[in-house]
Amino acid sequence: KKSDFGLIGLAVMGQNLVLNVESRGFQVSVYNRTVDKTNEFIAANPGKQLVGCDTLEAFVQSLASPRKIQIMVKAGAPVDQVIEQLIPLLDQDDIIIDGGNSLYTDTERRDAYLADKGLRFIGAGVSGGEEGARKGPAIMPGGPASTWEVMKPIFESIAAKVDGQPCVVHIGPGGAGHYVKMIHNGIEYGDMQLICEAYSLFKAAGFTTDEMAAIFNEWNEGALQSYLIQITGKALEQRDPETGQPLVDLILDKAGQKGTGQWTQLNAAENAVVIGTINAAVEARVLSSQKKQRVAASEHLQGPVADLSAAKKNLVAKVHDALYASKVISYTQGFDLIKTMGEKKQWNLDFGGIASIWRGGCIIRARFLNHITDAYRTDPALVNLMLAPFFKDVLNNAQQNWREVVALAVGHGIPVPAFSSSLSYYDSYRSHRLSANLLQAQRDFFGAHTYERTDKPEGQFFHTEWPEVIG
Ligand code: 6PG
Repeated sequence: KKSDFGLIGLAVMGQNLVLNVESRGFQVSVYNRTVDKTNEFIAANPGKQLVGCDTLEAFVQSLASPRKIQIMVKAGAPVDQVIEQLIPLLDQDDIIIDGGNSLYTDTERRDAYLADKGLRFIGAGVSGGEEGARKGPAIMPGGPASTWEVMKPIFESIAAKVDGQPCVVHIGPGGAGHYVKMIHNGIEYGDMQLICEAYSLFKAAGFTTDEMAAIFNEWNEGALQSYLIQITGKALEQRDPETGQPLVDLILDKAGQKGTGQWTQLNAAENAVVIGTINAAVEARVLSSQKKQRVAASEHLQGPVADLSAAKKNLVAKVHDALYASKVISYTQGFDLIKTMGEKKQWNLDFGGIASIWRGGCIIRARFLNHITDAYRTDPALVNLMLAPFFKDVLNNAQQNWREVVALAVGHGIPVPAFSSSLSYYDSYRSHRLSANLLQAQRDFFGAHTYERTDKPEGQFFHTEWPEVIG
């Protein structure tokens, strides 16, 4: 019997996806560049409908037509290498799926290249880490609708389910799937940073790690319920087996990153979309990684004592609101970017559908996403998520505590870049009049760039003969 599905690249994500697909009743062929890994994997999983292949030729031959081959190798050049090796072995209409964290423009290029050769391509963002891959990830596939239809039964059966709905929809053509996965990751960065800022405030107030764990565990029962809040509680509970100390206290404060957050920043900059919360999150990782410089600077640059113990009363409730409101801002910005790019690329994106598949399987999974789906289902043309009735109420109710938290942090020299950037976005966006009148005056002053006037119709431009400035 020929296999229903093939997977190339048996790193942990690949292995777990294979086991997931197999567990849904499909026979799966596997291939890995080093044959030992294939053999080990097959030996470790006896009695399963798995076919280990030593060569790419044998692998391709073992698959039923049209072949469905998922590549799970490192994003970048390795994906192109595997594709090149596959091309001469495949028949018309065979399907290649790239399930890695590929840059969407690479996906667009591969999509066009393979279509030219009569092959079909799906660029699918897969989120959920190792466990998600095994038990049910969120999948964000992009490519032709007709190719999606062929893949749908397998993808729907392996995806996470929420309220019986699989966490996978056809996102759009070409690079749309990997694009939306990239934004997912940007939002993931934002969520993580916001949680870390809450943690830093609790720490400054003198909460023990066990107390903090209890706070996050409790938050996970309410409006902030989410996978990232849940694992934060669990991470704070973890003890170092050798010293018995809370493990987080022993972990170096130097964040890593693999680039999807920076891709999101670049894309937002290119499209003039404000994603301050995500930018703050990426930059916080960058500054954290400059540990040596920070240690040196801590000897020279002064600030207030970072002690919030006097403000401990009600701090948990206030930080809760600051986190919740900032999270709303982060998603508002993320969806603004998705909307902007979707329109530019004519991807015809379903924002409600995107929010709904993020409810399960992926790293940012959260109850909160239901409200985003509702907002876009109620008003598909919604300009800004903050203005949906539900989020408007959240922000109006949280804004006072949010301000107090940011003020407290600033007053005590505790960096809260994501909380404060989110609040500035909120205050800017709701400002009837900003200070850009003066900015326009400056532009016209030095460069005759002209300005519009409050007392004249929009679109009429004026220039002033400003006084000459010497020296
Ligand atoms: C997911 C994650 C995953 C990502 C890691 C690491 O959705 O499962 O987004 O794809 O690679 O979270 O990302 P960083 O190393 O950049 O933190």
